[in-house]
Amino acid sequence: MPVVCPGSFDPITLGHVDVIERTAACFDEVIVGVAQNSAKNHLFTPQERVELAKAALAHLPGVKVEALTGLLVDFCVAHGARILVKGVRGAGDFEYETDMAQWNRSLKDIETLLLPTAPEWSYLSSTKVREVATLGGDVREYVPAVVAERIVAKLALVASPGKEPSDG
Ligand code: PNS
Repeated sequence: MPVVCPGSFDPITLGHVDVIERTAACFDEVIVGVAQNSAKNHLFTPQERVELAKAALAHLPGVKVEALTGLLVDFCVAHGARILVKGVRGAGDFEYETDMAQWNRSLKDIETLLLPTAPEWSYLSSTKVREVATLGGDVREYVPAVVAERIVAKLALVASPGKEPSDG
């Protein structure tokens, strides 16, 4: 039976990769659900986030990446999964994730396992990666190489929407 690792992944970070690698070491089949969160103003489109997550997780044979639309519990049922795995960085995440876990168990009896993130990534978030990159900082230490390249290209495109990054 597969387990699901859901998230917005805008973009996928080395913290996410660590949690998914450790989940894949515990479960044979892992489905990464890349969600469209209407409350968030995304940098990357859903398709781009799926593509980047696939590239970042290509070394893990038991891991599949799919777009998640609608309710997470329905995504789980559609994929024959009863368990969600989520990384928690600290008390703030724990409170948020406990609330979500109770909703998901109440809606469709989906259980949530919380995995503490590696201490070196306890401060890492996609939000901060986007902020640092937007302000011209180097994010190569925090994201897979493919993401670091794409974020620079994406920000150049956002800054000059009429130009392709290769236009010079
Ligand atoms: O990485 P994030 O942004 O913290 O992930 C949040 C996510 C995608 C797991 C959450 O927004 C979600 O479950 N979205 C799917 C829609 C849904 O089921 N919402 C009701 C949850 S009670």
